[in-house]
Amino acid sequence: MKISDLFKVEGYGVVVTGGASGIGLGYAEVFASNGARVTILDMDAQRIEKETKRLRGAGLDVRGQVVDVTDHQALDAAIDEAANLYGRLDVMFANAGIDPGVGFVGDWAGSERPRVPEGALENYTDERWNRVIEVNMNGIFATVRAAVRHMKPRKFGRIIITTSLAATRIEPAIGAAYMTAKAGIRNFMRNAAMELAAYDITVNAIAPGYIVTNIGGGHALNPVEQKAVAGTIPMHRVGFPEDMHGLAIFLASPSSSYITGQEIIVDGGQGIGVAD
Ligand SMILES: NC(=O)c1ccc[n+]([C@@H]2O[C@H](COP(=O)([O-])OP(=O)(O)OC[C@H]3O[C@@H](n4cnc5c(N)ncnc54)[C@H](O)[C@@H]3O)[C@@H](O)[C@H]2O)c1
Repeated sequence: MKISDLFKVEGYGVVVTGGASGIGLGYAEVFASNGARVTILDMDAQRIEKETKRLRGAGLDVRGQVVDVTDHQALDAAIDEAANLYGRLDVMFANAGIDPGVGFVGDWAGSERPRVPEGALENYTDERWNRVIEVNMNGIFATVRAAVRHMKPRKFGRIIITTSLAATRIEPAIGAAYMTAKAGIRNFMRNAAMELAAYDITVNAIAPGYIVTNIGGGHALNPVEQKAVAGTIPMHRVGFPEDMHGLAIFLASPSSSYITGQEIIVDGGQGIGVAD
């Protein structure tokens, strides 16, 4: 097989939740640029409008729909609509996620990392906990469930879930609910992989480290924070959505057809330990 066939995603019907920004937008762009038809589902109407206009302007087959992944009925309807439009759903990126705000320390590497009362466990509110679980855990479950309804009858599918380095390693600047949701979803991914393997549906996870996106109000866009965090990463730089593209294509294309139930970390070595 030629390399171009091994990594082929041309003609695929693809849906990306949280596809209007950051990592999801990167997935949408790289798949559409390689001949896939892509639907972006996101709760941010303005970003959907802006990004679909830009991508369509570049000649790419990209459409968008406003959906909150916590509204499971609306999510089902939007995934059904995309699958019916394409006549197939090959790849589902269950990617939408939020950062719950401050953790038990108030800042990222390079700061004094002061302890902050609002992120402390004794003050963690039900509202905060529940919202993160609703989006980052229940939203992923509902997304995968909706996709499987289209993939199982065709006996083919590639499900790619965005977990996090925080499924493995605690990041004190992010609230406790996030680590819980991401770790839970990593095991959900393995359960779904086992259940769906006989239908040629693979389920894998991409776990990003520190990637510059708009998450958490866009703190990662700050070059001072980037420089400080880069100092803690063995590769001495922060990551960008482009760093995720190759793995995403790999997990969706024929090159990974016998790989399922795996989480692959993309973090410049951050999870291994501190080098310098
Ligand atoms: N950026 C990082 O460093 C990093 C690290 C590890 C994991 N992640 C994960 O990557 C995924 C993508 O995050 P990102 O960093 O690209 O952030 P981002 O904020 O740039 O993009 C996330 C997108 O998801 C959308 N979204 C949020 N809640 C939603 C909901 N309820 N329904 C529909 N859409 C919703 C947002 O509107 C946004 O467009 C998340 O699951 C996040 O937890 C990010």
